[in-house]
Amino acid sequence: MNATLAISQQPIGEVSPLIYGGFLEHMGRSIYEGVYDPDSPLASQDGIRTDVVAALAELDITMVRYPGGNFVSGYHWRDGVGPREQRPTVEDQAWKCIETNHFGTDEFMALCRELDWQPMIAVNLGSGTPQEAREWLEYCNAASYSVPIWCLGNEMDGSWQIGHVPAAQYAERACQTAKLLKDADPSVETVACGSSDPIVKTYLEWDRTVLECLGDLADYISLHRYVGNRENDTASFLGVTNSIDQQIEDVDAVCRDVAARKQLKQRPFLCFDEWNVWYKSKEVGKMNGGGKFAQPIIEEVYNLEDALVVAGFLMSFMRHADVVKVANLAQLVNVIAPLLTKKNALLKQSIFYAFGMLSRRKGGTSLQTTVDGPSYQTELYGEVSFLDRAVTLLGDKLNLFLTNRSCNDALNLKVSTNLEIDSVASAEILHHEDPKAANSFANPNVVQAETFSAIEVGTSGVSLTLPPLSLVAATLNVAR
Ligand code: AHR
Repeated sequence: MNATLAISQQPIGEVSPLIYGGFLEHMGRSIYEGVYDPDSPLASQDGIRTDVVAALAELDITMVRYPGGNFVSGYHWRDGVGPREQRPTVEDQAWKCIETNHFGTDEFMALCRELDWQPMIAVNLGSGTPQEAREWLEYCNAASYSVPIWCLGNEMDGSWQIGHVPAAQYAERACQTAKLLKDADPSVETVACGSSDPIVKTYLEWDRTVLECLGDLADYISLHRYVGNRENDTASFLGVTNSIDQQIEDVDAVCRDVAARKQLKQRPFLCFDEWNVWYKSKEVGKMNGGGKFAQPIIEEVYNLEDALVVAGFLMSFMRHADVVKVANLAQLVNVIAPLLTKKNALLKQSIFYAFGMLSRRKGGTSLQTTVDGPSYQTELYGEVSFLDRAVTLLGDKLNLFLTNRSCNDALNLKVSTNLEIDSVASAEILHHEDPKAANSFANPNVVQAETFSAIEVGTSGVSLTLPPLSLVAATLNVAR
């Protein structure tokens, strides 16, 4: 197959580094036995897993959302601060895991400092009060933790959420909370809970009601999305990016509409604060800790096709760089995560490599592109181009992010641009002929990023050959 990618000089917007965020929730083995495990031979003096920290550093994450998720709607932050021996052990209401509270706000902030993450906190608007949220902010920001972004609850549109109420009632709660937070620290930004999935009945209605009530008190609206290949149809699954684009454009339209009608000082931006592939470990009944400590729940095993979809999410965020300003891969360790731990070992899953290939090329200006090439029809997402792509320009570096979604055919790609390309600075590929290929503790290197050499810079431009089922991230030197 042949295709051409034409890169225009027309900017879409600056790519916010915060789209390379992550998420740590008190759930299963994410915190305990994940980042914090004093019993592991690999733990530091403070109980933090040093191997996990080293791998997270490779992911080059910018901002991490904490402590939930559904967990936060039953969490009282005071339980997790002060001397460890005085912190209560409780059963968490969302996931029915035993919560020792040995890891709390201060431990999270220490981790943020170590990994150079900006912290992002979700407050409890399920069973908590606006005043409790304000006191958490005072605790954090007086201690110079400087938490810049605060989520006004989590998935409050969902009937499963502790304290779920109709949109108007949530909006009032969120309004009071945002006022208290911004009074205490005018520099903080707030994220209103938007729809938790496009399939919920109140999709977009919820978002409109909430944004109209919050007005200038909401800097962002949240989007969540978990996707999967339940039909075992790889070609269709890889086309899911069409519907991620659509979700972003739907929510953006609501933001623009409310901002215009309510004459807001600034339109709310999009905070995609939970996203990932998650379907294999979604059986109802297995999604709880059964009243035990650190149970392995929703430990999804990721394969090559999942990694291509993870890259597809990030490319969609880049294509909408003008409106998507924050995004958080959910989650980071053990729970639907790029990393899996055993007491004395760590596994990097396929999605670890996809995320890292893109995050290490963060920032810059996202440029408009046009693809002239073959496409295919899918059951679920209509017509899908074999080539998925995003392009950014950062100083004298042009970054190409490219996926060949064909299961069978290589794609010969010509890149056309007015920029004068000197040479290839670096290029990596993630690829396997089997879409279901996955890493395991026994066989950890089945799917991993490798140096990509099938790329040429010649007098007639840049050309490359993408094998079937492959992701390429390439950085090109631009002559100035
Ligand atoms: O990330 C797992 C869960 O998915 C989160 O707790 C919740 O917000 C979402 O439904």
